[in-house]
Amino acid sequence: MTDTLTVRDDRTGKEYKIQIQDGAVKAMDLRQIKASEKDFGLMTYDPAFQNTASCKSRITFIDGDAGILRYRGYPIEELAEKKNYLEVAYLVLHGELPTKSEYEDWVHSVTYHTMVHENVKKFMDGFHHDAHPMGMLVGTLGALSTFYPDAKNIFDAESRNLQIYRLIAKIPTLAAFAYRHSRGMPYIHPSNDLGYAANFLSMMYTPSPTTKYEPNETLAKALDVLFILHADHEQNCSANAMRSIGSSHADPFSAAAGAAAALYGPLHGGANEEVIRMLTEIGSVEKIPEVIAQVKDGKRLLMGFGHRVYKNYDPRARIIKKVAEEVFQVTGRNRLLDIALALEKVALSDDYFIKRKLYPNVDFYSGIIYQAMKFPSDMFPVLFAIPRMSGWLAQWQEGLLDPEQKIARPRQLYLGSPERHI
Ligand code: CMC
Repeated sequence: MTDTLTVRDDRTGKEYKIQIQDGAVKAMDLRQIKASEKDFGLMTYDPAFQNTASCKSRITFIDGDAGILRYRGYPIEELAEKKNYLEVAYLVLHGELPTKSEYEDWVHSVTYHTMVHENVKKFMDGFHHDAHPMGMLVGTLGALSTFYPDAKNIFDAESRNLQIYRLIAKIPTLAAFAYRHSRGMPYIHPSNDLGYAANFLSMMYTPSPTTKYEPNETLAKALDVLFILHADHEQNCSANAMRSIGSSHADPFSAAAGAAAALYGPLHGGANEEVIRMLTEIGSVEKIPEVIAQVKDGKRLLMGFGHRVYKNYDPRARIIKKVAEEVFQVTGRNRLLDIALALEKVALSDDYFIKRKLYPNVDFYSGIIYQAMKFPSDMFPVLFAIPRMSGWLAQWQEGLLDPEQKIARPRQLYLGSPERHI
C-alpha cells in the first residue's frame, strides 16, 4: 500500500500525488494545485475545524465512536479510580505519572503558590455583587499577567514551570474569591494542610475567617474525581483558544484568560449550568414528552446531549453517574436526577437522537452533583475551568515547543465586494 493520494484537477487535467502521513494530508500540499499561473492555489474550507487536525499531540486520545478517553495512554476510568487530580494533572503536563518524590515536590509547589497578591482582592472587590463568577475568573486570570511580568519568558523551561505552578495553584483561590464576593462574604485564605479539592471547598464554604470548617471527605473525593474527568479533552474550543493565543507568544496568564472565555459559552463549559436550568424548568417527569417534541421541532436543544467528537456514551458521564450516588448518600438525593434519568431514557430510545448519535455528555450529570454540593449554578463553568487549567497548560506548552507550529492564522474565502470606488 502506498501512502499517497492521487488527485486529478478536472479544471486542468493535471494529476498530483500527495503524501499521506498519520492518516492526514497536509493542507499546504494542496497549494501547488492551480487552475492557472496566477491562481493562488487550492485551499481547504473547514469553518469549525470539523475535519482538520490543527496540531500533532501526545496528550489526550479520544475515540468518539467507541466512547474512549485516555490521558497519555491511561484510560480515564483507571485514573478516576486509582489516582487523584494532582497526580493526573502532573501526568497530563509531563507525560508520565509522578514518582513518589516527584509527586511530593509537585504537591509542595502547587500548595505553596495558592495565595494571591492582596491587590487581587481589590480588583475582585471592583466587580458588581451580581457579576457572573466566570466573568470574574476570566478578568482576574488575565490580570494576573500584570503581577508576573516574568511569565513573558515563555522559552525558559524554569519560568514556564513556575507559571504552571502558579496557574494550577491560584485558579481555585480566584474561583472561591469570586463566589465569596458575590455573597458579600470575607475571603478565606488557602489551607496548606488540605488536599487540592478539599482546600477549594474550605475556601468556598468556611463560614468566616474565625471559624474552623472540615470539608466532608466523600464530597472532597467526589469533587477530585470530577476534576480528573475535566482535566483535558484534546482540541476542544478552549484548548484551541489557548493554543491560538499562545501561538502569538503571549504569556500563559493572558492565554489562560482567553481559554476561560472560550469555556464560558453555553455550548462548551456553560452547558452544565444550562442543564440545571432546563431540568428545573421541566420540573416533572410528565413534562418530558413535550420537551422532546420541542427538541425534535428544532425549537430548543437538549442541553447536556450531543458532542462534536463522541458519537457514543461520553465515558465521563458514565463515571459521573456513579459519583452522583456517592454524593447523594451525604447530601440526600437531588430530585433533578430522577428527571435527568427519565429524560435520558426517553431520548436514548427516540429515533431523532438515535439517528444523530446524540448521547449524554459530561455536563448532563455534573451539574446535578454540583447542585447537591450547594454550588450555585453560575459556579458550574468555574468548576469546569479549575481542573481544565492543567489541560490548557499542557496544550499550550506542547504547541509552544512544537517546531512545526507557527502563529495561528487561518485563511478565508473572500466573497465580498470586488474593488470599487467612491
Ligand atoms: N439537542 C438536540 N439536537 C442536537 C443537539 C442537542 N443537544 N446536539 C446536536 N443536535 C442535532 C443538531 O441539531 C444536528 O441536527 P441536524 O443534522 O438535523 O441539523 C445534529 O444533531 C448534529 O449536530 P451539530 O450541531 O452538527 O453538532 P456539533 O458537533 O456542531 O455540536 C455540540 C456539538 C456539543 C455543540 C451540540 O451537540 C450541542 O449544542 N449540545 C448542547 C450543548 C452541550 O451540551 N454542550 C456540552 C458539550 S460537552 C462539554 C464540552 O466539551 O464542552
